[in-house]
Amino acid sequence: MTDTSIHGEWSSKFGFIIAATGSAVGLGNIWKFPYMAGEYGGGAFVIFYLLCVALLGLPIMMAEVLLGKRGKLSPINSMRKITQNAQVSSRWSIIGWLGVLTGFLILSYYSVIAGWALAYIPRLALGTFSSINELPPDQVLQFVKTIFSNLISDPERLLAWHSLFMGATVIVIAYGVEAGLEKSLRFMMPALFALLFILLGYSMVNGDFMAGFHFMFDIDFHRFFYPHCTPTACEFNGEAPLAAMGQAFFTLSLGMGAIMVYGAYLPKHAKIGEITAIVVIADTLAALLAGLIIFPIVFSNGLDPNQGVGLVFHTLPIAFGKMLGGSIFGALFFLLLVLAAWSSAISIIEPIVAWLIESKKMSRLSAALLCGGIAWMVGFVTILSFNLWQEVKLLPMIPLLADKTPFDLIDFFTSNVMLPVGGLLIALFVGWVLPARIVSEELEMTENQLKYRFFRFLLRFIAPLGIGLVLLNLVGIL
Ligand code: PFF
Repeated sequence: MTDTSIHGEWSSKFGFIIAATGSAVGLGNIWKFPYMAGEYGGGAFVIFYLLCVALLGLPIMMAEVLLGKRGKLSPINSMRKITQNAQVSSRWSIIGWLGVLTGFLILSYYSVIAGWALAYIPRLALGTFSSINELPPDQVLQFVKTIFSNLISDPERLLAWHSLFMGATVIVIAYGVEAGLEKSLRFMMPALFALLFILLGYSMVNGDFMAGFHFMFDIDFHRFFYPHCTPTACEFNGEAPLAAMGQAFFTLSLGMGAIMVYGAYLPKHAKIGEITAIVVIADTLAALLAGLIIFPIVFSNGLDPNQGVGLVFHTLPIAFGKMLGGSIFGALFFLLLVLAAWSSAISIIEPIVAWLIESKKMSRLSAALLCGGIAWMVGFVTILSFNLWQEVKLLPMIPLLADKTPFDLIDFFTSNVMLPVGGLLIALFVGWVLPARIVSEELEMTENQLKYRFFRFLLRFIAPLGIGLVLLNLVGIL
């Protein structure tokens, strides 16, 4: 097999760690995790999510990196090459194809949501939210909600921010891996974490920290399965385990080749177990920090944790509005959130761009423009789902999906079905099909080492069983 990738290589294993963390940490941690934890009742959701991260996420991330490092090409071609060399069915390259489809769908909405964060930078910088200090407390929530809904109900504004974000993503992709990506991420990731810690300090002092903490970590299965209780009615909802597992895949960028393609740019001797563990820990830390920042603010302001996609855009502006120097911190925070989303967006299309360069002989620029253009257009579906198509429900006959907008459906199927299925195929391929010799060689472990055996056990049994059960549960609840 060739030793280096034609697309370039990270300058060291830190290059990979930074880029993979950049891919993993994004809107999934700061926007999606808190609102999902809020929607599914906190505690049990968080614990189930953490279990999925540790037992499914880590081994599957190792497997993806290993495949990339072995193949040194885009996921589709790496899988082809590996199956050919190992003389097993080339049908397994479906993993790469599934990733292409999933990538377009995820990027299409990811860019729209990142656009919301972009739109909040000027709002915070101009001190829009400082005026909440003059409002009576019971009008504060209404004020922040109105600002948010004014934004998402205007398709033209959403389109403008979406286009800006997608354009920026295409530019970095066009510059290539190390030049564009590695350098900027080295400063950005530490800055984001620093700001998260500052905000945590704020929440500890000014928020109802203990209420937030209990909400996140008290295991309450009733809230998990009956998240939408009103004083008069309680409805069972079997979607929560699926959502928690889907979130574990989404947040770690697993199941669609994003981490695999970054593995292809790894230098030869890199310890996959160690570097992936660092990425998983950093990603989990970012999500937990976001939760510990947001929920104390939710409770100290008498807000409802179950606010859906607007949660972060309602709560943080309240905190920034009340905080000394909040306009600067706030603008900086949303800027860093956009940058984190940016580094994730890049990793979503890199597998497809790399394939177009290899197989269709396109230049990096045209491949980036083509992929960005397609995802940009698919993004219209998401934009319209928050306004003109708000009432469009495509699957009214399926109770679980009956009230989902087109955006909700894209989000639901990509995170909860396509990524886990991709992960399942990766686990089966590396666990059962790929010769053990290749696996241990790429991991730089020997076959009788305890950590190797543990990895293999997780990959062969726990991951397929876990994903299989949760997906079967989906079939049951549909
Ligand atoms: N992990 C990213 C986040 O949490 O925001 C989203 C993501 C990136 C999903 C790359 C999938 C992917 F391939």
